Amino acid sequence: MKKASGLESCLLIIFGATGDLTFRKLIPALYQLEKKKELGKGFGVVAVARKSISSKEYLQEAKEKAKSHTSEDFEESLWEELKDRIRYQPLEFNNETDYETLNQTLNRLDREMGAQGNRLFYMATSPKYFEIIANHIKKKDLYHEKQGWKRLMVEKPFGRDLPSAQKLNGALTKVFGEEEIFRVDHYLMKEMVQDLLMIRAANQIFEPTWNREHIDHVQIISTESEGVGTRGEYYDQGGALRDMVQNHLLQMLALTAVELPGNLTAKNLREEKIKILQSLIPLREDSIKEQMVLGQYQGYREEPGVAANSSTETYAAIRVFLNHPRWLGVPFYLKTGKGLKEKAARIVIQYRLPMGSCCLGTTKEIEEPNRLTINIQPLEGVVLSFNTKQPGTLDTIMPVSMDFCQNCLIGMNTPEAYEKLLGDAAKGDQTSFTHWEEVEASWKWTDTLIDWAGKHPREVKLYEKGSQGPSEAMDLVHREPGRKWL
Ligand code: BG6
Repeated sequence: MKKASGLESCLLIIFGATGDLTFRKLIPALYQLEKKKELGKGFGVVAVARKSISSKEYLQEAKEKAKSHTSEDFEESLWEELKDRIRYQPLEFNNETDYETLNQTLNRLDREMGAQGNRLFYMATSPKYFEIIANHIKKKDLYHEKQGWKRLMVEKPFGRDLPSAQKLNGALTKVFGEEEIFRVDHYLMKEMVQDLLMIRAANQIFEPTWNREHIDHVQIISTESEGVGTRGEYYDQGGALRDMVQNHLLQMLALTAVELPGNLTAKNLREEKIKILQSLIPLREDSIKEQMVLGQYQGYREEPGVAANSSTETYAAIRVFLNHPRWLGVPFYLKTGKGLKEKAARIVIQYRLPMGSCCLGTTKEIEEPNRLTINIQPLEGVVLSFNTKQPGTLDTIMPVSMDFCQNCLIGMNTPEAYEKLLGDAAKGDQTSFTHWEEVEASWKWTDTLIDWAGKHPREVKLYEKGSQGPSEAMDLVHREPGRKWL
């Protein structure tokens, strides 16, 4: 029997339906879900945005954009099926009458399609509208308290610092309960990020050694070769610390460091992740310079929308410690940046070298420690590096590796993050969404760094586009014996 997708009967209401996210991610994800027959008869989409256009015009634009963001051949017949589910509704985010019209559309569609009163609201607008929309959802009763469920999906950024995140959360929780809020961090939907826990839990060789006794340090890396592109104006107000570190990198850190719950429920996992994020040791203002390197790629200030004298960081490398018995003294190195040599994300666990004089009286020292590398993108997989004897000799050690490339073997057909996001939220599964307390702890820690960066614009080092980043960042890792960026 086919597993329930969660998307059998509900209305998905997308606020910000003419934006980049909707066209680049949401519509292509819906197309794929249609293709996989995961959308039920009772599933409909109400696309909401300010543009005053008809459904027909909207669908024409959506089709063109979906086509260009779908990697394989675009099937017209599939699009026709999806199209029938989508209605466009123009709406000014502050206009009460527009919400009343929207409500009528929702009630009518609900009856026509049999969506059973289930409503999945998706905030894909600029964050400045999140609160306004949430207030109107409540004020204009865009859901039925007693019939079906209501849920809210919120894109990042969830605030731009702790106070603004608290304010936003306060506004949202007046309308939706914590169990109804699905804070999106698309990294949590990446196949290998999800696999991290299983790799630990399902392999006796890893979990018992997943601690300070055996692990020397951890690297969490997500780099991009592209610059800011057309997002200059938005990005310049944020920078890498807000855009990547506070969310994606700290979420990967939390999943790497978390105590495995006996039973993997959303509640258990989120409780454990909160503990990790709350155990991040704050960087002391007087030593931040030794723990963090910020950079900006050359040419960033000439990007459209970027201030000519901008000191916004497009690169950050940070050394982090946790106040947690499993991890005391183990550094976690975080690295992210735009305009770098490669687009790649990976987590590397570097083990300690064997204790004592190695090995069996051989003449050669061990140079390479064991490493477990979780490749998240573009290739997905796991590489385990270890030492062996060079064939033909008895005393020469040779580093080798075992490489499991998941998408070479299984193909590139793993579901896209946004397909999973929609399905999980519709099923009410919060495992891969962030709890408010995770967001709160992450901002608390990152705010210190952001404040420091604001006060020390000269500490943002220029680096050449297409390079490995500022040379100072090398030193952050390389100054420790036996460590280098991987
Ligand atoms: C987004 C950031 O959250 O993640 C972008 O806002 C960044 O600046 C993107 O480019 C990276 O995501 P991915 O999946 O391409 O690594």
